[in-house]
Amino acid sequence: MIEMKDVLKKYSNGTTAIRNISITIDQGEFVYVVGPSGAGKSTFIKLMYREERATKGILTVAGYNLVKIKNRDIPYLRREIGVVFQDYKLLSKKTVYENVAYAMQVTGKKQREIKKRVMEVLDLVGLKHKVRVFPSELSGGEQQRVSIARAIVNKPKVLIADEPTGNLDPENSWEIMRLLDRINSQGTTVVMATHNSTIVNTIRHRVIAIENGRIIRDQAEGEYGYDD
Ligand SMILES: Nc1ncnc2c1ncn2[C@@H]1O[C@H](COP(=O)(O)OP(=O)(O)OP(=O)(O)O)[C@@H](O)[C@H]1O
Ligand SMILES: [Mg+2]
Repeated sequence: MIEMKDVLKKYSNGTTAIRNISITIDQGEFVYVVGPSGAGKSTFIKLMYREERATKGILTVAGYNLVKIKNRDIPYLRREIGVVFQDYKLLSKKTVYENVAYAMQVTGKKQREIKKRVMEVLDLVGLKHKVRVFPSELSGGEQQRVSIARAIVNKPKVLIADEPTGNLDPENSWEIMRLLDRINSQGTTVVMATHNSTIVNTIRHRVIAIENGRIIRDQAEGEYGYDD
């Protein structure tokens, strides 16, 4: 599903953020990416959806070679990958419905199909009653649930989340985790960067620890916990 071999990322200012990382993540896995600030977690994640291009190495995601991928093929790659951010990144002038539908409209689906699927995912995240509301009228937890609905509306193979609970209180964080677990149990691979050691130690999954651009630990689900 996701394969990295000797991947190196050097930013144009000379900073090396990822140093020769090799890793395989299988279809259906749930993986936490942990590590201190500046370790390279976000860079690791950005490489996976081709927000950043690897400087060296081999990187394949959902069958796409991300080192060689052409710009015109990136929209197709992005349909296989849903992305969730700490700050939600919803479109403020669009309603909840429009925010989610927009991700599907760009794939050229028919209006009727879009409506059915959008209502389905908004139901899954418990926000069917908020379709006509604007993001500014929602709580943080609700906004994050809309962004998750948007990320999964095209039924991606992978869901990537960079600190999805970073701006949320514990209760809303657990709600988001329950949702991500549910999406994962339906077969979607989930890769989630987080600082939240309580979550990592409570809801057990594989843990990849990055420090200074290198993987320093890769623990299978069921091995002992992660301490921050
Ligand atoms: N666009 C960029 N240009 C140059 N250097 C960058 C860029 N983005 C990140 N870096 C650097 O790359 C390194 C890794 O950053 P990254 O954002 O991946 O860390 P992180 O683990 O996500 O940190 P945090 O926990 O604070 O989010 C840091 O040294 C950072 O300063
Ligand atoms: Mg980060």
